[in-house]
Amino acid sequence: MTISQHSTLSAFAQDVVDGLSQSPRQLSSKWFYDDRGSELFKRIMASPEYYLTNAEAEIYRNAAASLLAHTGGQPFDLIELGAGDGTKTQLLIERFLAAGARFAYRPIDLSGRALSDLGKLIKLRWPKLDFNPIQADYFQALDRLGASTGSRLRLVLFPGANIGNFSPAEGVAMLQSVRKFLRPGDLLLTGFDLKKDPAVVLAAYNDAAGLTAAFNLNLLARINGELGGDFVLDCWRHWESYNPVSGAARSFLLPIKPQTVTLSKPGQTFRFRAWEPIEVEISQKYSLREIEGMADAAGYAFVHNYCDAREWFTDSLWRVPNP
Ligand SMILES: C[S@@+](CC[C@H](N)C(=O)[O-])C[C@H]1O[C@@H](n2cnc3c(N)ncnc32)[C@H](O)[C@@H]1O
Repeated sequence: MTISQHSTLSAFAQDVVDGLSQSPRQLSSKWFYDDRGSELFKRIMASPEYYLTNAEAEIYRNAAASLLAHTGGQPFDLIELGAGDGTKTQLLIERFLAAGARFAYRPIDLSGRALSDLGKLIKLRWPKLDFNPIQADYFQALDRLGASTGSRLRLVLFPGANIGNFSPAEGVAMLQSVRKFLRPGDLLLTGFDLKKDPAVVLAAYNDAAGLTAAFNLNLLARINGELGGDFVLDCWRHWESYNPVSGAARSFLLPIKPQTVTLSKPGQTFRFRAWEPIEVEISQKYSLREIEGMADAAGYAFVHNYCDAREWFTDSLWRVPNP
C-alpha cells in the first residue's frame, strides 16, 4: 500500500489566518482530523448520542444489494470521499464481495492516520482486494484519479454526512464539482442527516462525556502545535446551536475572557474579546424533498433515498445523466 501524500501545512496556515481575520471569525472543520482529532472522532461515533453512525450502518447493511444492482454487474471503482476509519464502508465491501462484485476500493482522506489504520484493517480482512488510498483534499484526489481509473464505472461514496459540513449552496457547488470528474452513468451515494427533533440533534453535538467539546478544542491545540500558536485551551468553551428552520447545527468556540493569540509560524496576532465566537463547524440537516431538489440543482438524476427505520438519516443515490 502506498499513500500518495502532499503537504497540507501551508494550506492549513493560510486557511487559519484567513478564517481568524474574518468577521465573524471562522475555522474550517476539515482541519479537525489530525491524529488526535481522528481518534476523538472515532470515540464520538461510538457515543450514545451520535446517532448518525448507527443509522448509516443500518442503511449500508440494507442497501448493499440494491446498490450493486444499480451498477448493472459491471466492474467498478468504489471511490470514497472522506473515508475516515471506513468502518461502515466495510459493511458494503463485505456484501459486495459476497455477491461476487468486481471492484477496486479507493478511499480519499486528508488524514494519513485514518488511511493507514484503514489500510491495515483492509489488508487483514481482504488481502486480495485492490486497495489504493489517496491522502489529499477531495478535489486534488479526484483530479489524480481521473487519469488512473480508465473507463470503469465509478460508484462514489460521500458518507457520514460530510456534505453537512457545507452550507446548502456550498453543498450544491461541491456536488456539482464532483460531477465534473464523473462520466454519464457513474453513481454518487451521499449521506445526508435529516431534520428531526431538535433535542436529538443538539445532543449529538453536545455529548455528556464532552467528546465533541474536546474534539473541537483539539483544533486550537493543533494550531498551537503546527503553527506555533499560544491559545490557552482552558479559557475556551464549546457551544452548539441548532436552527430547526434552516436545519443548520453550528459549533462555536468562545473565550471566557479577552485573549491575545499569536501564531509564530505565519507571524500573526489576533485579539479576541470575551465571548467572541469562532465558528468551527456547520452540520446541515435536510428534508428528503430538499435532497431531491439538490440532486437536480447539482446536475444529477435522482435515483433513490435509502433511509434508516427512524428516518433520521438517508443515503441518497444519484446518477450522472447523459448530456
Ligand atoms: C466526519 S468524518 C467521517 C468519516 C467517515 N466517512 C464516516 O462516515 O464515519 C470526515 C472525514 O473526512 C475527511 N475530510 C474532511 N474534509 C476533507 C477534504 N476536504 N478532503 C479530504 N478529506 C476530508 C476527514 O479527515 C475525516 O476523516
